[in-house]
Amino acid sequence: MGGGDALGRGQVVVDDVDMAARIRDATLGDWPAIWPIVREVVVARDTFTYDPEMTEDEGRALWMVASPGRTTVAVDGGALLGTANMYANRAGPGAHIASASFMVASAARGRGMGRALAEDSLFWARAAGFRAMQFNAVAETNAAAVALYDSLGFSIVGTVPEAFDHPEHGLVGLHVMYLKLG
Ligand SMILES: CC(C)(COP(=O)(O)OP(=O)(O)OC[C@H]1O[C@@H](n2cnc3c(N)ncnc32)[C@H](O)[C@@H]1OP(=O)(O)O)[C@@H](O)C(=O)NCCC(=O)NCCS
Repeated sequence: MGGGDALGRGQVVVDDVDMAARIRDATLGDWPAIWPIVREVVVARDTFTYDPEMTEDEGRALWMVASPGRTTVAVDGGALLGTANMYANRAGPGAHIASASFMVASAARGRGMGRALAEDSLFWARAAGFRAMQFNAVAETNAAAVALYDSLGFSIVGTVPEAFDHPEHGLVGLHVMYLKLG
């Protein structure tokens, strides 16, 4: 698994019994297939601190990150089943730390797409020269995301108490998770 081209874009291919997914850069033409995934995640309001009432235009502006950031998709055959974006976490003196976000359609979870999207983003961040990757707001109840990031080497550097209002669990903490690159 892994690889990349001269522009530093990661190309992660996942093959197992259930799926053969490819991660590639998103195009604006992918948006109609990305929006249902973004919408499903934000309406659930159990993982991201995004407005569940966001419109499609707001979703596109939020998710389709322009260069030098990047938006990617996970494609399985003809189906677009997951997406990620990545960018400098902060501007100016904070711009050497990357961040990223990942969303997989609920029907496609647990099949390696989230891992493939995350590994590809780390490949991109290393190739682009970022010193580390940081996730600013991982709900402590998000077992899948916490386990995925932990397995990739991220550590929890702190937890903001009661910072996330979960629809079932009420006020829960938001982890800041960090991985030094290189
Ligand atoms: C988090 C998310 C992107 C993971 O995507 P996925 O395709 O389901 O994940 P994968 O199948 O690649 O699994 C990767 C790892 O996540 C963990 N994981 C996945 N599902 C899990 C679950 N239900 N419970 C606990 N851990 C889980 C495992 O460590 C797994 O590693 P494995 O290779 O040992 O199985 C996906 O659940 C999702 O889109 N959730 C909603 C949006 C979200 O929470 N994004 C992250 C916000 S910080």
